[in-house]
This record gives sequence, C-alpha cells and structure tokens, in this order.
Amino acid sequence: MTAKLTSIFLLLLFLMYPAALLAYWDFPPLPPPHEYGNILINRTSETNNIKPVSFSHWSHRIKYSCRVCHLELEFEFSVNKTEITEQDNRDGFFCGACHDGKVAFGHTEEHCDKCHSGDLSTGRERFEKFTADPKLPRAPFGNKVDWTLAMKNKIVKPIYSLSNEKPRVNMKFKERLELQAEWDYVPPAFFPHSVHTRLLDCGNCHPDIFFIKKKGTEYFLMEFILKKKFCGVCHLNVAFPLNDCKRCHPGIKNK
Ligand code: HEC
Ligand code: HEC
Ligand code: HEC
Ligand code: HEC
Ligand code: HEC
Ligand code: HEC
Repeated sequence: MTAKLTSIFLLLLFLMYPAALLAYWDFPPLPPPHEYGNILINRTSETNNIKPVSFSHWSHRIKYSCRVCHLELEFEFSVNKTEITEQDNRDGFFCGACHDGKVAFGHTEEHCDKCHSGDLSTGRERFEKFTADPKLPRAPFGNKVDWTLAMKNKIVKPIYSLSNEKPRVNMKFKERLELQAEWDYVPPAFFPHSVHTRLLDCGNCHPDIFFIKKKGTEYFLMEFILKKKFCGVCHLNVAFPLNDCKRCHPGIKNK
C-alpha cells in the first residue's frame, strides 16, 4: 500500500513538477544554443603542441546524416575515442574524407587554424545567420532547432550516405515503440524508429546500444540514460536534450 501511495505521489509530482525531478536527477547544464553539439577533440593535439580541434555538429548535420560520419567514416559516439591522426586525415580518412581541398577546405597550411582553433564557440556568427531564417522550426532546448521538423519540411536536407547507399530494411520492426517505464504510473516514453533511421543505420544502435528485442534492454532507466547510456548516447549532446521530457513522454509536461 505504501508503495502504491508513493507511486501515486510520484505520478502527481511528474505531471505537475518535472522540475522537482530535474533537481533529483543530475541533469548536465546546457550550453548556449550555438555551442550545443560543439566539441573539442584533444586526444593528441595539445601533447603535439597544437591547439585542440573544434568541430560543430549543427554545421555538419545540415549537410550529412549522422550515419555518414558515425558508420561510413567510423567516428565513435564519444569525444576523443576515435584514433584520428593528421596523417590519416591527409590520406582521406576521417575529416579528410571531405576536407580534401575539393568538397571542403583541405589539410594545408592556410587552413590548420580553422580546425585547430581550440575554440568551442567557433562558428557562432554562422549559427546566428542560420537560425535567423523565420521558416526554421524551433525547439525549447539544445540548439533550439527542431531538427525533425526541419527535415520533414525540407529546410534541412542531410545526405544519407557518401557512397549512395539506400536505407536497408532487412527485417520487420515496429515503427513506434511504447517503452513502459519500470516505475508504475509514469507516462511511457515512445521511440519512433523512422525519425532515427532517416539519420542512422540499424547498426548504430543494434546491438551495441539496444538489444534488438523490445524490453530486451536491461537497466533501461533515466538514471542510466543520464549517464550517457541508451537514449543518452545522443540525447545529452547532439539530439534534443533530456530536459525536453514531453518529446519522449508525451504525458509529462516540460518545466
Ligand atoms: C579538417 C580539420 C583539420 C585540419 C584542416 C587540420 N587538422 Fe590537424 N587534426 C585534426 C584532427 C581531428 C586531429 C586529431 C586531434 C586529436 O585527437 O587531438 C588532428 C591532429 C593533428 C595533430 C596531432 C598529431 C597527429 O599527427 O595526429 C597535429 C600535430 C596536427 N593535426 C597538425 C595539423 C597541421 C599542421 C595542420 C595544417 C597543415 C592541420 N593539422 C590541419 C583535424 C584537422
Ligand atoms: C561530419 C561528421 C559528423 C556528423 C555528420 C555527425 N557527427 Fe557526431 N561526431 C563526429 C566526430 C568527429 C565526433 C568526435 C569523435 C571523437 O572525438 O572520437 C562526434 C561525436 C559525437 C557524439 C559524442 C559527443 C560528446 O560530447 O561526447 C555524439 C553523441 C554524436 N557525435 C552524435 C551524432 C548524431 C546524433 C549525429 C547526427 C544528428 C552526428 N553525430 C553527426 C562527427 C560527426
Ligand atoms: C562528410 C564530410 C565532412 C566531414 C567528414 C568533416 N567535414 Fe568539416 N565541413 C564539411 C563541409 C562541406 C564544410 C563547409 C565547407 C567549407 O566551409 O569549406 C565543413 C566545414 C568545417 C569547418 C568550418 C565551419 C565550421 O563548422 O566551423 C570546420 C572547422 C570543420 N568543418 C571541421 C571538421 C573536422 C574537425 C572534422 C573531423 C573531425 C570534419 N570537419 C569532418 C564537410 C565535412
Ligand atoms: C536510434 C537507435 C535505433 C536505431 C537506429 C534502430 N533501432 Fe531498432 N530499436 C531501438 C530501441 C530503443 C528498441 C527497443 C529496445 C528495448 O525495448 O529494449 C528497438 C527495438 C527494435 C526491434 C524489436 C522491437 C520490434 O519492433 O519488435 C527490432 C526488430 C528493431 N529495433 C529493428 C531495427 C532495424 C531493422 C533498424 C534499422 C532499419 C533499427 N531497429 C534501427 C533503437 C533503434
Ligand atoms: C530521449 C527520450 C527521453 C527524454 C527526453 C526523457 N525521458 Fe524519461 N525515460 C525515457 C525512457 C526510454 C525511459 C525508460 C522506459 C523503460 O523503462 O522502458 C524513461 C523513464 C523515465 C521514468 C521512469 C523511472 C526511471 O528512472 O526510468 C521517469 C520518472 C522519467 N523517465 C521521467 C522523465 C522526465 C521528468 C523527463 C524530463 C526532465 C524525461 N523523463 C525525459 C526516455 C526519455
Ligand atoms: C544514436 C543516436 C540516438 C539515440 C541512441 C536515440 N536517439 Fe532519438 N533522436 C536522435 C536524433 C539525431 C533525432 C533527430 C532530432 C534531433 O536531433 O533533435 C532524434 C529524434 C527523436 C525523437 C523525435 C522527436 C520529434 O521531434 O518527433 C524522439 C521521440 C526520440 N528521438 C526519442 C528517443 C528515445 C526514447 C531514445 C531511446 C530509447 C532515443 N531517441 C535514442 C538520435 C538518437
């Protein structure tokens, strides 16, 4: 009975005060919109006497799907994990797949500082110009851009693959999954496959992040999502952040 009362109490708490949970859980602070998804890569830079590399997700995701970089070019979903070297870049791998002096500026003297700027807020003016477009759909958090709608409305048209591959669907799956929380009475989260498969490969998520069986993923709790597991692999840094409760749990209000 006490457990049930606690659950009911929690339900009321979520529905009315998600802010209370923000305090209960450790939500990482959000950077300003132009820096959301920007990273500094510094696995080897400073130890080789050059400034860290700045990379912005917003400016690249306008042109390319996540899959291009995180599947075809084999970048990891974690900063400083990929073993990128300047030689590899010059040989056409990693950044050098595009930064070859044709598709984008190359790895030559006059361009070193564009990447090795050590500046997390690089590209701020271009971001402001990009987001000044009144047709661009807005979101409350992250880059404050509703990337899903922007793609649907064809304002942003990232290419799916560098090698002209088409999305492969070699097995049946449910389009929209209802993920019932482990706690009673918590409004469930929904996972829409198609929003994700437009940008990602099945192999980006299965089997490393999620088992390919509904409810097969263990320890599927907010506590772990907030530690960069599961949905938190992307929804803490690049995709809209966890603060936007209602986009995943339509039954929970945002703060
Ligand atoms: C398109 C972006 C880009 C450009 C342009 C670029 N680099 Fe890099 N460079 C990188 C990345 C990414 C790394 C990996 C950094 C890390 O992990 O710390 C790197 C690594 C390095 C390293 C670390 C050691 C090594 O050899 O991997 C040095 C030194 C370096 N670059 C020098 C240069 C110089 C000099 C130029 C200009 C001639 C240049 N880079 C241009 C992206 C770039
Ligand atoms: C043009 C290439 C490119 C594109 C496109 C791209 N990424 Fe990345 N992403 C990177 C690189 C490079 C890193 C850093 C890898 C490293 O340092 O090992 C990274 C890192 C990440 C990280 C870790 C960030 C952190 O702070 O730990 C996440 C999450 C991520 N990407 C998600 C995405 C998602 C989601 C998309 C599509 C919306 C996407 N990426 C599109 C190149 C790209
Ligand atoms: C899939 C293609 C692709 C890959 C991979 C890629 N870029 Fe780019 N990048 C571009 C294009 C296209 C532009 C815009 C063209 C230009 O300005 O010359 C650009 C622009 C940039 C800029 C200047 C504009 C901005 O965003 O601030 C920087 C800095 C940059 N890239 C860094 C990197 C680094 C670092 C990597 C690797 C970690 C990387 N890029 C990987 C295609 C790519
Ligand atoms: C962004 C991550 C992501 C991508 C990309 C993704 N999935 Fe999933 N998938 C999930 C999640 C989350 C679940 C639910 C896991 C759970 O409940 O434990 C799931 C469950 C499934 C299931 C079991 C549920 C059902 O439908 O019966 C199948 C089958 C599946 N996915 C197939 C695919 C295929 C095929 C692709 C590529 C076309 C794909 N998935 C791409 C995240 C993803
Ligand atoms: C990116 C999607 C996403 C966002 C955004 C999100 N959640 Fe969740 N949430 C989930 C998933 C997935 C689960 C686990 C469902 C399951 O157990 O199968 C979950 C579970 C929960 C649970 C159940 C208890 C637990 O720890 O798992 C609560 C409570 C909850 N979320 C509240 C919130 C609140 C409050 C917010 C906003 C501050 C929020 N969530 C934002 C996806 C999300
Ligand atoms: C590999 C990266 C990745 C993972 C893992 C991931 N997502 Fe996403 N998700 C994205 C990207 C990218 C978008 C596009 C919107 C954006 O970038 O803000 C998106 C969009 C969504 C949307 C669409 C919102 C809308 O506007 O319609 C929902 C809902 C969502 N994700 C829920 C989830 C849930 C729930 C999980 C975990 C079960 C999850 N996602 C795991 C990358 C990811």
